[in-house]
Amino acid sequence: MKLTNEQINSFKELGYVFLENVFDTIEIDKMNKELPRLYNLDKEQIQREKDGKAVRTVFAAHELSEVFSNLSRHPRIVEPAKQLLGGDVYIHQFKVNGKEAFDGDLWQWHQDYGTWKNDDGMPEGLALNVGLFLDDVTQFNGPLNFIPRSHRDGYIEANHDITTTSYPLWTINNETISKLVEKGGIVAPQGKAGSMILFDSTLVHGSPSNMSPWSRTIVYISLNRTSNCITKFNRPEYKAHRDFTPITCVDDSCLR
Ligand code: SIN
Ligand code: MN
Repeated sequence: MKLTNEQINSFKELGYVFLENVFDTIEIDKMNKELPRLYNLDKEQIQREKDGKAVRTVFAAHELSEVFSNLSRHPRIVEPAKQLLGGDVYIHQFKVNGKEAFDGDLWQWHQDYGTWKNDDGMPEGLALNVGLFLDDVTQFNGPLNFIPRSHRDGYIEANHDITTTSYPLWTINNETISKLVEKGGIVAPQGKAGSMILFDSTLVHGSPSNMSPWSRTIVYISLNRTSNCITKFNRPEYKAHRDFTPITCVDDSCLR
């Protein structure tokens, strides 16, 4: 799958591009069927909310499931990323964020590159996220919030927040967020399961908690240029992969 020039320009200008109907219901059902098994695993890479029960994130789900392994090498994920980053890519991180009904906690304002630079020594923001919706995402179930154009100044100074949620994150202070929102506003792309959003590693984003009765599962495939591989190995391998081999794509029909 190739992006059009218009889609590439949207990514460059706004920091993200939103695509609907990328994966069909057969493919999405197949991925959703993997979740109960993964959520029940007693492993460190299954990270839970502060209540110790609801799943916040399944890290490296592509190493625990053949279905997600196929997704991590899927041409509908990898080809657009290569187009946008201008070269070969490898998987820096692969995670399923559960944002479970009633219990899914918020994600504070941040740039992913903040964590990747500070914790993993990623030299530049030559990386992006592909977020694939496994549930319909609405205004009610904790959609991602983006500040359009906030990627334009590159890395923004961040503080390590280890208390607000169960997950340590390099977050951006309220004063900086206010200034960025004054210029760029806030958008919350919403759509059916199977929609996909690609966003720059320096785009500022976050998401509110999910107090609705509907879960909001999104799979994130974080891809980095092979020329920009990480230089620090402080975090566990399941959070920051060390295999910098360029991804070889699987067949487009592998999830049918
Ligand atoms: C993230 O920013 O890494 C996750 C945000 C979310 O899933 O809402
Ligand atoms: Mn993020």
